[in-house]
Amino acid sequence: MAHTITLIPGDGIGPEVSSAVVRIIETTGVDIRWETHYAGAQALEKFGSTLPEELLESIKRNRVALKGPITTPVGKGFTSVNVGLRKALDLYANLRPVRALPNIPARYPELDLVVVRENTEDLYAGIEHVVVPGVVESIKVITEKASTRIARYAFEFARREGRKKVTAVHKANIMKLSDGLFLECFRKVAADYPEVEAEDKIVDNACMQLVMRPEQFDIMLLENLYGDIVSDLCAGLIGGLGLVPGANIGELGAVFEAVHGSAPDIAGQGIANPTALLQSAILMLRHLGEREAAERIEKAMLKVYTDGQVRTRDVGGTSHTDEFAQAVINAMG
Ligand code: NAI
Repeated sequence: MAHTITLIPGDGIGPEVSSAVVRIIETTGVDIRWETHYAGAQALEKFGSTLPEELLESIKRNRVALKGPITTPVGKGFTSVNVGLRKALDLYANLRPVRALPNIPARYPELDLVVVRENTEDLYAGIEHVVVPGVVESIKVITEKASTRIARYAFEFARREGRKKVTAVHKANIMKLSDGLFLECFRKVAADYPEVEAEDKIVDNACMQLVMRPEQFDIMLLENLYGDIVSDLCAGLIGGLGLVPGANIGELGAVFEAVHGSAPDIAGQGIANPTALLQSAILMLRHLGEREAAERIEKAMLKVYTDGQVRTRDVGGTSHTDEFAQAVINAMG
């Protein structure tokens, strides 16, 4: 089946890692037409907007995008394009599979879990005000609609990927109404998926359990803020953020991207590691139903890491981005 995919190369190391990933995907023979669009500072110069309408229309039309990192100026300038994209397309589910790679130092080399984070509400709604000088309120918004759809997403993902258990993480003992609602929605949805085990844990205990016995988790389902914190904790368990893929998924489309940023310190040198974006592309291919191609690339990438001959500088090697891409292509046979 032919696919049209929106490609956002991004800036900094974005164009380097995305061209390496496109080259690897094209080797599989999957029929893809790429529609390239720019965002961030590049788009501001050309189109007068950091998130041009043409780009949003392209994602809505194609329903799938592969995105390189985009720089957000600190303290001044335009607001985050990444957050803008999630809002504009209502990309409500943030998915982050956490799995160690062979030969990369990790505290838990056997770990294989998936974090599903609600992406649209909670304290991230940004509703804050000064009550009186010296007293500030931040409002946590939890809705039945968003809690139900994220729980359904987690269980559907479990069913599709053959995962065994979903653990909802909350603080409903203290935030009885908000986290209580999140938990209630989780339990209602869980009843529709009897083949998937459903359990819940209080967030502080879940963090301790993650450090002591992380293998007990399979899919973790969290509200926005807990998800933000716990997903980075999980990345730390397998060696850091640099290799971890991510996806932001909604009804209107899905945007697949690496967790890392645009790495301005090494941009333009051809030494960036394309692994995180490659792993995001593997998720994208599965999402498109191209399982065979996804598995071929994944196997080849794991072989390159297992052999340990070709590695980029960030993981202790000397190879360049293109050499790594070529090694993965060679390993696909
Ligand atoms: P960063 O992730 O870009 O870099 C942190 C460190 O990791 C740097 O030393 C960098 O060289 C290294 N690194 C990151 N990715 C790498 C890769 N693929 N290969 C080798 N080394 C890699 O984080 P930082 O410096 O905080 O952010 C830089 C810019 O990226 C900021 O403008 C930030 O807003 C943006 N950003 C964008 C994201 C996105 O587009 N989704 C996500 C995170 C940050």
